[in-house]
Amino acid sequence: MHLILMGPQGSGKGTQASRLAPRLGLLPIATGDLFRSAIKAGTPLGREVEATLARGELVADDVTIALVEERLDEIAHRREAGEAAVGALYDGFPRTQSQAGALDDALARRGEAVTAVVEIVVPTDRLVARLAGRRVCASCGEVYHVEYHPPRSPGVCDRCGGEVIQRPDDTPEAVQRRLDLYFAQTEPLLRYYRERGLLSPVDGDRPIERVTDDIVATVERPSPAASGGAPWRS
Ligand code: AP5
Repeated sequence: MHLILMGPQGSGKGTQASRLAPRLGLLPIATGDLFRSAIKAGTPLGREVEATLARGELVADDVTIALVEERLDEIAHRREAGEAAVGALYDGFPRTQSQAGALDDALARRGEAVTAVVEIVVPTDRLVARLAGRRVCASCGEVYHVEYHPPRSPGVCDRCGGEVIQRPDDTPEAVQRRLDLYFAQTEPLLRYYRERGLLSPVDGDRPIERVTDDIVATVERPSPAASGGAPWRS
C-alpha cells in the first residue's frame, strides 16, 4: 500500500501518521521529519534547508524527491531481506504537482502505484490555534498540544522521555506563510487525486483516536479504483 495523508498544516497529518504507520504496517515517509533530522545531524542537506524551514517556505522539489527515493529504496531492501514492509505512508509529500508526478514515476519504476489518498479536513480557523499550541518531542518527534493532547508529565515525552519543545517554525509569520503555500500549491493536488478516484475526505475536527479509526476504516474499504479486496495488500 502507498497511502498519502493530505491536509493543511495543523490538520493532524503527523499526529495520525505516528498512529497509522504501526497499525497498518507501513514505512512512514514524513519529509518534514526527514529535513528536521538532517538539520539536527548537521549534514550538508541540513545546513542547506535550515533557513528554508525557518521561513516556512518549501524545500526545492529535486532535493525533496531525492530524499523520498532513498526511503523507497529502503522498502525494496527490507523486502529483499524478507521483511514484511508492505508499503509507505506519506506525510507532507507530495506538496506540488511536480512532486506528485515524480512520486507516480518513482512508484511506476518499481511496478507500484499510489493506492489511497486521505484528506484530513479541518476548518481553517482551527488550524492556527492547533499550531500555536503544538509541542513536539525533540528526540523522537512525537506530537503534542498544550490543551488537546498534553504529555502526561509536563515537558516530558510519554513515548521516549525526551524534552517536549515548541517547533522553531511555529512562529505566527512562518505558520501563515506555510498555510498560504498550502492553499496555493498543495490544495490543487486534491483535484488531481480526486479525478483518479483515489481521494477520500475524513473529518479531522474530532478526537484524535476517532480520526485514526476513520482513516483505517476508509482505507480498508474496497475502492472503485482498486482491483478489489483490501486495497493496500499487494
Ligand atoms: P512538516 O513537518 O510537514 O510541517 P507542516 O507541513 O507545516 O505540517 P504540520 O506538521 O504543521 O501539520 P500536521 O498536519 O502534521 O499537524 P500535527 O499532527 O503536527 O514540514 C515542515 C517544513 O518542511 C515545511 O514548512 C517545508 O519547509 C519543509 N517540507 C516538508 N515537506 C516538504 C515537501 N514535500 N516539499 C517541500 N518542502 C517540504 O498537528 C498539529 C497540532 O494539532 C498538534 O499540536 C496536535 O497535537 C494537534 N492535533 C492533531 N490532531 C488533533 C485533533 N484531532 N484534535 C485536536 N488537536 C489535534
